[in-house]
Amino acid sequence: MFNKRIKIKQLLLLEPGSQQVTVMGWVRSFRNTQFIALNDGSTNNNLQVVAELGKFDEAILKRITIAASLKVTGVVIPSPGKGQKLELKATVIEILGDSDAEKYPLQPKKHSLEFLREIAHLRFRTNTFGAVFRVRHSLAFAVHQFFNERGFVYLHTPVITASDAEGAGEMFRVTTLPAQNPPLTDDGTINYKEDFFGRATNLTVSGQLEGELGATALGEIYTFGPTFRAENSNTPRHLAEFWMIEPEMAFCDLEDNMNLAEEFIKYIIRYAMEHNPDDLAFLAQRLADEEKQLPQDKRSELGLIEKLDFVLNNDFERITYTQAIDILLQSPAYKKKKFQYEVKWGIDMQSEHERYLVEKHFKKPVIVTDYPMDIKAFYMRRNDDGKTVAAMDILAPGIGEIVGGSQREERLDKLLQRMEAMHVPAEELWWYLDTRRFGTVPHAGFGLGFERMVQFVTGMSNIRDAIAFPRTPGSAEF
Ligand code: 4AD
Ligand code: MG
Repeated sequence: MFNKRIKIKQLLLLEPGSQQVTVMGWVRSFRNTQFIALNDGSTNNNLQVVAELGKFDEAILKRITIAASLKVTGVVIPSPGKGQKLELKATVIEILGDSDAEKYPLQPKKHSLEFLREIAHLRFRTNTFGAVFRVRHSLAFAVHQFFNERGFVYLHTPVITASDAEGAGEMFRVTTLPAQNPPLTDDGTINYKEDFFGRATNLTVSGQLEGELGATALGEIYTFGPTFRAENSNTPRHLAEFWMIEPEMAFCDLEDNMNLAEEFIKYIIRYAMEHNPDDLAFLAQRLADEEKQLPQDKRSELGLIEKLDFVLNNDFERITYTQAIDILLQSPAYKKKKFQYEVKWGIDMQSEHERYLVEKHFKKPVIVTDYPMDIKAFYMRRNDDGKTVAAMDILAPGIGEIVGGSQREERLDKLLQRMEAMHVPAEELWWYLDTRRFGTVPHAGFGLGFERMVQFVTGMSNIRDAIAFPRTPGSAEF
């Protein structure tokens, strides 16, 4: 009867009055052969279980070691000790699973995040990662709630595809051909006709193109799934496997798109703040402690909670790419040659530029629109100036780009021109082009990088700590 247990999160909310309950969890510590700190993952707050002296067998007490799992039945009483309102006076303690304290890798002390990444299979058991993954869950749940409330259809786009949605050539190949001596064509290249799907396929970099097919019939859709990029970027903001949320809306222009993105980001932050106040308070304290090690000028001006409040209560700044470049060119940082990369109209802004705009200049999230056509994907709608496209990126403090989106080119002739110029094979995307042939409509959408969002809300500075099992160049453990 495992379902008769009460979760510690619920138990801690009870008014102590000798209620009999059963809890199950893992031992975090055992003091004076009497006080067990028990955690069951429902909250970072441990339950104090009291094993009164003399009441329990020596043999049982010896097995109450760090990480051992227990089933405890007892009564909930007010706690005379400091730090907790109530405690559980144990009547029966059953060991569900022993744990060799000497060999347990997670000792009750502070471990570095780098070390915890090496034992990612156990890091859920720390307060930090318990909080991160509960907040991540809330954000994911809020994503579905937000779109469901607005009548969007959740569309499951394929993980294996034959197209490169972003045209950036950063794909992982999917094949069942032998690595040694694969079948070859007459001209000596690999013959994918003999492959599983009868053609070359890869893991998706984005569900957008399929999303557009859905939106131009269902009206409004969103995807929320894993996406894969073989970009060799070893940075605190890049993963080879990350989760992306991609809404796509028919009858929608760039401004509607920006409004939805801003509302969406605020909604999911608010949801996490309402549902995970303890976890966020813990993470805020963790971040404040971590930043104490930094020189004054590297610390954040606002604490985590204040930062989130600030984002909720202020409009995002909206500027064009051209304005952004002007701001950079006028900046003291530029004049003092502080930027490593060149600044001029036409560049693909580097993270140092984005961070300057967001963290130094505006000190709030910024939506940059109307990027040069040549640095953006083929599907973005061309503006009347002939040089820019109706693109928008949202830049967030401490993160940089968190959203990328655009109004889509719905005019078949213009889209075909762009595809030709960018060497995107129109024959292979015949199905995509059909949306423009049969009842084309203005439409728009965006992609939110879920792990970057988790980073922003939890204050974790490395994206590897925002996903359970990070995949990065050279690393796919667990
Ligand atoms: O800007 P991106 O490449 O846009 C697209 O994929 C579009 N198809 C989205 C759309 O319009 N439907 O990626 C969108 C977001 C980025 O802003 C970033 O937050 C995240 O995805 N992202 C990554 N996150 C982690 N690791 C990576 N390697 C990422 N690449 C992009
Ligand atoms: Mg982008």
